[in-house]
Amino acid sequence: MSTLKAVRGTRDLLPPETALWNRIEAVARSVFERYNFGEIRTPVFEDTGLFARGVGEETDIVSKEMYTWEDRARAQSEKSQSLTLRPENTAGVVRAYIEHKLGETGQLQKLYYIGPQFRRERPQKGRYRQFSQIGAEVIGPVSAGSESPVRDAEVLEMLATLLDELGISGWTLKINSVGSASDRPAYIAKLKAALEPVVGQMCEDCQRRAVTNPLRVLDCKVPHDQPFIDALPKIADSLDEASRTHFAAVCAALDAAGVPYERDHRLVRGLDYYTRTTFEFTHGGLGAQNALLGGGRYDGLSEAIGGPKAPGIGFAMGEDRLVLTLQELDAAKAELADAYIAPLGEAQNPAALGLARELRRGGLRIELGDGSFRLKKSFEAADKVARTIVLFGENEAQSGILTVKNFSSGIQSKIARVELAAHLVAARTK
Ligand code: HAM
Repeated sequence: MSTLKAVRGTRDLLPPETALWNRIEAVARSVFERYNFGEIRTPVFEDTGLFARGVGEETDIVSKEMYTWEDRARAQSEKSQSLTLRPENTAGVVRAYIEHKLGETGQLQKLYYIGPQFRRERPQKGRYRQFSQIGAEVIGPVSAGSESPVRDAEVLEMLATLLDELGISGWTLKINSVGSASDRPAYIAKLKAALEPVVGQMCEDCQRRAVTNPLRVLDCKVPHDQPFIDALPKIADSLDEASRTHFAAVCAALDAAGVPYERDHRLVRGLDYYTRTTFEFTHGGLGAQNALLGGGRYDGLSEAIGGPKAPGIGFAMGEDRLVLTLQELDAAKAELADAYIAPLGEAQNPAALGLARELRRGGLRIELGDGSFRLKKSFEAADKVARTIVLFGENEAQSGILTVKNFSSGIQSKIARVELAAHLVAARTK
């Protein structure tokens, strides 16, 4: 008999990796609490219609990737029903918002979730059929300020804080506006007209999308199609006054808060509910599946699934991808020496060897430079192999006070020789 294995695209998470998952979730919960979010837990499966109407029939998620089955009635009083394992959590949260009449509180609802999602995608690094999302939604009646651009900016600023607290450096935030229900139809019409004469020369996906979901053509990555896409009209030029003002206010608030971002006029995202602001945080360490998280505003979603007007904005982070990024950052960090000792002048070589010996005996990983190197060369060599550089000249040898520069923080400080080992150990976690 063949041995049974976990299903393709699913994985077991084992210790010690699970400790990292728990740490990520603890940091996320602590950040969400400080921004006054509460936790929501919705069922893992829902009526198929929720995703068809909420996420959109023509999206890849709904048309190709859902785990859907017909659930047989078990009693005469029950009906059979089409059910689907949730491919994402926003539609479920909005359903719960409507079902529990949360809008009647008159308050903004600020809800976060952590849990598994399911999509039948082609598995690869960072892409699984069962994966976990950490997400949050801000939703409520217009009178509670749910349409305000300050909500968009606050969510983005919270994400920058969360990634920083997780220790994920080197992310890029891309933002765009996809317009509203009132200005988007005009853009789609322009896009269709511009696509018509060229789409026959584009890939099969583009040909299909040009008919079913033209905005998604902007998402195409096929190199041959790029010149055609670059020549298409830009959505930014079709935004009406209200959408333009909203987007400008989001950008101004991000500038004021010091959150760096790039505008990407092709960022349309793969779910149909988005209006106005869309965004993604990417990370170079992830390879092809480089989106750490994605989100945006969905001012019409509640109405699309039969609820009251309830504009909202939210995001979901791929927890599996956060784990991968942290493992890669840590692995890169772990390979670095704790310090590069740079003797200043050949005369210092013997004493520098003594310092290296002392630190190595104390368990530190040390690279010893060469006093014949010019300072610039020592810095260049050190930056490649070590977390810090320790300058060791005649003054330092005599005074016992060393100059230490940390490459990731850029901070240079004076450290007494007796405290150097402890200082270098502490720098491992910075
Ligand atoms: P999404 O872009 O489909 O958005 O997914 C959000 C994140 O989930 C992605 O950026 C990625 O990190 C992760 N992810 C998606 N698919 C997979 C997969 N197959 N394997 C591993 N990770 C994956 C949404 O789901 C929206 N509900 C986000 C949102 C919330 N928009 C507004 N509110």
